[in-house]
Amino acid sequence: MTYVVTENCIKCKYTDCVEVCPVDCFREGPNFLVIDPDECIDCTLCVPECPAGAIFSEDELPEEQRDFIAINAELAKAWPVILEKKDPPADAAQWDGAKGKRDQLER
Ligand code: SF4
Ligand code: F3S
Repeated sequence: MTYVVTENCIKCKYTDCVEVCPVDCFREGPNFLVIDPDECIDCTLCVPECPAGAIFSEDELPEEQRDFIAINAELAKAWPVILEKKDPPADAAQWDGAKGKRDQLER
């Protein structure tokens, strides 16, 4: 199993999650983070850290977010590791909870 970053991270990218991961499995893109499914040890620590509620275990994913399993796996191979929290985008709060953010995902 793995944990999965889902749609609400897009353009929020708070990065609190990276500080608690014991195995450094977050990868950073321009406006979204993913979890490397080959590294995640299912510790659950990142879930309560995300202010946007964007992280779920694979088996508790909402049905409409299941495509993010493949998105995390694909982009984890392309993006670099992120180890430290950084400032979120200035307009992060405006995007928190917005619907239809898939189109905003920058690869
Ligand atoms: Fe890292 Fe644990 Fe979250 Fe997996 S569940 S991404 S190992 S903090
Ligand atoms: Fe994204 Fe939440 Fe981490 S918004 S960057 S999954 S803290």
